[in-house]
Amino acid sequence: MKIKDLDLGEYPVILAPMEDITDPPFRTLCHQYGADMSYSEFISADGLIRNAEKSLVKLDIEENERPVGIQIFGANEQSMAQAAQMIASLDRKPDVLDINFGCPVGKVAGKGAGSGIFQDIPNMMRITRAVVNNAGNIPVTVKTRLGWDEHSIVIADIAEELQDCGIQALTIHGRTRCQMYKGEAHWEVIRDIKQNPRIVIPIVGNGDVRCGEDAMRMRDEYGLDGCMIGRATVGSPWIFSDIKHFLRTKEHLPAPDIAERVSAARTHLARAVAWKGERLGVLETRKHYAAYFKGVENFKDTRIRLCTADTSGEVFDILTEVENNF
Ligand SMILES: Cc1cc2nc3c(=O)[nH]c(=O)nc-3n(C[C@H](O)[C@H](O)[C@H](O)COP(=O)(O)O)c2cc1C
Repeated sequence: MKIKDLDLGEYPVILAPMEDITDPPFRTLCHQYGADMSYSEFISADGLIRNAEKSLVKLDIEENERPVGIQIFGANEQSMAQAAQMIASLDRKPDVLDINFGCPVGKVAGKGAGSGIFQDIPNMMRITRAVVNNAGNIPVTVKTRLGWDEHSIVIADIAEELQDCGIQALTIHGRTRCQMYKGEAHWEVIRDIKQNPRIVIPIVGNGDVRCGEDAMRMRDEYGLDGCMIGRATVGSPWIFSDIKHFLRTKEHLPAPDIAERVSAARTHLARAVAWKGERLGVLETRKHYAAYFKGVENFKDTRIRLCTADTSGEVFDILTEVENNF
């Protein structure tokens, strides 16, 4: 699959953008485990053009995690164009600039951004054209949903229009805005878009891919060009090596043992501290420990200690204990 000149190989497995999760430390870890590409957390275009620190920091990219996409959101054509210009003039540019037309959360969609854009399709196209025209030579992609609700599944028409605006790939989360994260993702609707002979850009499927079998079905039964995985990667960056192995061999890798889990947690913490500093690095890695050690018996007390330790030194010591004792 190619996003303009960016060759991601056959059927890439991509890390989905996730707020508070897909920062550089987590992305590099997923890259190390074989993710073919990853996306940043979504970044407010309005925040970027106001130079808000919280937004600017999310533009950081590590050279060793490429290819990586930066994702922006906003409801205003001018701010989105300006944000695209800013990103196009960065020293360390992303490989792809993605527009978020999918976020269902009230504070975003309620202001007409994210999936709120389904209430104003002409604005969706204006924004897309503005971003494409201001992104320099960075290819622009869109991530969106099926429509606002089950009575307005508009993605088929929208996909063609977005392609005509000049985007280079389209990722579709197979749910409507009103479904939020509930119910099932409807991959059959995504397949219909892929089968439309007018659509020539790659179509990436998203929603409920949790294992190699899912990724394989999305490729072989639904014919999609790539798959994007969100929730199943949290605390399981090794899912990428397992899925890629399964796609090649129809066999799973052995489940990660304690040493592997500890090693991933250590790397994550070390990178988080290097990137965000000691205090924030320790605090923000806490939310990942439960997932890293999910299913490990008699882990509750240790998990609480991991999540309450104040310094990275203490956490590293507890991780060593975990490696020796579980
Ligand atoms: C905690 C969390 C944060 C998310 N943040 C974003 C985001 O910033 N941008 C975006 O496009 N989607 C975001 N999503 C949606 C995911 O990218 C993905 O579309 C969704 O979770 C469905 O895929 P999955 O079933 O593989 O998780 C987020 C999802 C979760 C669970």
